[in-house]
Formats: sequence, structure tokens, C-alpha cells
Amino acid sequence: ASGSYKSYINGQWLRSCSNKVVTITNPATRKEEFKVQACTREEIDAAYEGCTEAQKIWRQVPLWKRAEALRKVASVLREQRDTIAECLVNEIAKARKDSLSEVDRSADLIEYCAEEGIRLLSKGDFLTSDAFKGTDRTKLCLSSRVPLGNVLCIPPFNYPVNLAVSKIAPALISGNAVLVKPPTQGAVSGLHLAQCFDKAGVFPKGLVNFVTVRASENGDYLAEHPSNNCLSFTGGDVGLSLAKKVGMIPIQMELGGKDACIVCSDADLDLAAKHIIKGGFSYSGQRCTAVKVVLVEGEVADQLIEKVLGGVNKLTVGMPDDNCNITPVISETSANFIEKLVMDAKEKGAKFLTEYRREGNLIWPCLLDHVRPDMDIAWEEPFGPVLPIMRVSNTDQAVEHANKNRVALQSCVFTKDIEKAIKISDSVQSGTVQINGAPARGPDHFPFQGFRDSGIGSQGIANSIGMMTKTKTTVINLN
Ligand code: G3H
Repeated sequence: ASGSYKSYINGQWLRSCSNKVVTITNPATRKEEFKVQACTREEIDAAYEGCTEAQKIWRQVPLWKRAEALRKVASVLREQRDTIAECLVNEIAKARKDSLSEVDRSADLIEYCAEEGIRLLSKGDFLTSDAFKGTDRTKLCLSSRVPLGNVLCIPPFNYPVNLAVSKIAPALISGNAVLVKPPTQGAVSGLHLAQCFDKAGVFPKGLVNFVTVRASENGDYLAEHPSNNCLSFTGGDVGLSLAKKVGMIPIQMELGGKDACIVCSDADLDLAAKHIIKGGFSYSGQRCTAVKVVLVEGEVADQLIEKVLGGVNKLTVGMPDDNCNITPVISETSANFIEKLVMDAKEKGAKFLTEYRREGNLIWPCLLDHVRPDMDIAWEEPFGPVLPIMRVSNTDQAVEHANKNRVALQSCVFTKDIEKAIKISDSVQSGTVQINGAPARGPDHFPFQGFRDSGIGSQGIANSIGMMTKTKTTVINLN
């Protein structure tokens, strides 16, 4: 419901001493509907102190009990499904059915993480010294993974619940404490998630903290804090500067993607069109993994476009409560940025296959043909329901364009020739290449990483557990 929400620090729901709030605007109504606390540096210090004390207890809790605690959270999250989905609808204008899926996926992720943690963290290595030249069997080495300490989790607005748990659950199963800084837009959904951890009633006080701040004032303070032992961040370019500031701690970053979709002349065009529509327009294109540019071989371009356009014309446009395919984008700033890219393409001669239409933050799906490299939309992520199509003479040209993107998260290639697909996959430099399917992060145990400015480190459940732990060895000397 609309109103003012407290932060969750050291097991308590707190109003900030700053007496300042951060206001959140419902993207659909464009009215300020929620307020969260603008926490102070002292409150951040208190949260980290809580983390540090709680982690001392938590790291001693047997692995099976940590897994059980996570399963309990998953079950509370399932009970709160409708309430949290309602928040997502109002706070980030995600269609209700997608909001419900986000919550379900999050509970599934937590449960999988509990299982994977049991498997991964119960295993270690045993080495004998006599393998190394000149050494007898006089040293036995035992190695295992141990927690890092405190993990700062910063999820983005587009998955404030799912991309929060994808950081929190691996951190907790590994024996860490967490401080979560929810995205401003999505903070209320994040605080409802905090309530699930609170309601589960199985964690030491202070182990899980949700601290809302004004990012411009205290974002760096959170990240650079001496008690922060690990940063898991998903978001925009601010991650590039954070990466330089945090110092010698493990970091995991995902900073967006200009995901290219290469359509070869021998592709199944119905299949490609279906994936382009879903990939380009789900959640109104506000996904790092959305198809952000189509590179199609000229000889099949008209046929492909006809099929894509047919699908685009069927997309419903309206409010998230009505489960429309296209809903208002997150903010007026975002809508203005999208419009700027569209107008730049218009001035430079792109062909509009749909009429450009905008009402407030609601932008109708926009398909642009004959996009050329001199247009900003060929390189920038609109993060909105706008899809540029570039006609290429051959796949080499498509690969060349894809490899010049600054943010190389994922890409995809459509062809019936598997050998060609593998060759293209080998030449495209992005974190993942999907063959005959749209880019996507899930299933959530798959590795997920960006190349170039798109990120550092790899996510996915097992990789996150790996990143949030360090190797500890004990050597037994036989004298
Ligand atoms: O927006 C970034 C997300 O990691 C994309 O996740 O592929 O499941 O939509 P998704």
C-alpha cells in the first residue's frame, strides 16, 4: 500500500534519524506514492556492525541448518506472493502476471541455492605434497571454502526482488551476512522481501539488513565501507566508478547489455520473429538481456520484418494491473531518454515501421528499420519498447557490429546450420551467445556474465557461491 516505509537494520524496523525520506513515484500514475528512509552514515555503520556480529554466529551454524533457514524464507516468500507482486505492479509497473512470476522465481532460486550450497560447500580438496618435484609425502593439504564476511547487495529496479535474492541467498548459504541497498524504484518491494526474512524468524539479529539511502549522498559510503567484504551489483554505469572505489574485495557486476540478435538467411524466420518479439518487448524492453538490436541478412530482412511487425501489432499496451505487454517505463527521465534516441534515428533517416506514440511514461512499441551505425540507437540501450533493425550484407558484418558494443552481455544467432551457429558463437565476444533463442539470464543456475563494460565476475547460483567464499587451507606437516 502507499505510505512511508522503514528500513530494516540490526533486526529492527527503523525510521532514520535524518528525518529525510526518498520519494518513489508510481510510473503508471506518475504520482508520488511511497516514501522510504534516507538513512544516515551512522545508521549504515550500525547496519555493518550488526552484520559483523551476526556473521560470527552465522558462520558457525551447520550448513544443513543454513539451508533449512533459506527454505523457510522461500516458503514465507511464497505466502507473501500476492502482496509482493502488488508492490511490483505499483512501484515498477511490471505486469501483474510477470510480477507474480518474479516472486515465484525468487522462491525457486532460494531453494535451489540451499541445495547447491549443501553440495558445493561440503566439498573441498585434499592434496599430498609428493606431487611436487623434490618433495616427499610429508605435507597433507586440506582446502575448503569459507565465507568472506559481509556482502553488500545492490539490485536494480527491474528485478528488485529476484535480483536481490540472487545475491542474498548465495551470500547467506555461504555463511556471510548481508547488507542490501534496494533500488530507489523497487525499494518498497525490497522492504517487503526484508519482511520475509524477518518473519522467517530463523536468522541471528543483524544478519540481514535492508538499508535505503539517497544513492547520490551515501552510495559510495556503503560500498567503500571498511566492513564491506564483497560487492554484488546489478545496474547501470555507476557500477564502473564503484568498481574502482571499493578496493581489494571480490566484486560481481552486471551493468547492462546491448544484446544483438543475428538472423542468418537460412534461419527459421517464424522462430526468430517469435523470440525477437518476446526478447525485445518483455517488460517493455527494460531488461539487460532484452534484444536491443536485430542484425538481419538483407535477403531475408523483408520477410522477417513482416513477421516481427505482425507480432508487435498484437502487443497490448496499457497498465500493469491489466496485464498489458507494454506498460509505462520506469520514469519520465527514462521515457525522455528513449524518445531522444528515437528522434535521433528519425532525423538520420530510420524507417518507422510503427508510429511513434507516447503518453506520459507509456511508450507504444516502436520498430525501426534501416538503422545505420551513425544513429545512437545502433549502440545505446534504450531500456524501453524500441527495437532497431539493421540490415547487413553477411554474418561477418553482423558479428563485427556486435563486437563493437560497449556492453556485451548476451547475444543470439538464428540459423538452421548448427556448424554456422557455433562458428558465429565463437566469434561473438559477449558473455553468452544463445543459439536459436532470445537472450535470457535464466535458468538461474546458468553462468551469467558480461564482457567489456557490461560487467565483471560471473553470476549464476554456483558462481555466486564461489565468488562469495574464499579458499582456506590447512596443512598437516608430518615430521
Ligand atoms: O535485467 C537484467 C536481468 O538480469 C535480466 O534477467 O533475462 O531473466 O530478464 P532476465
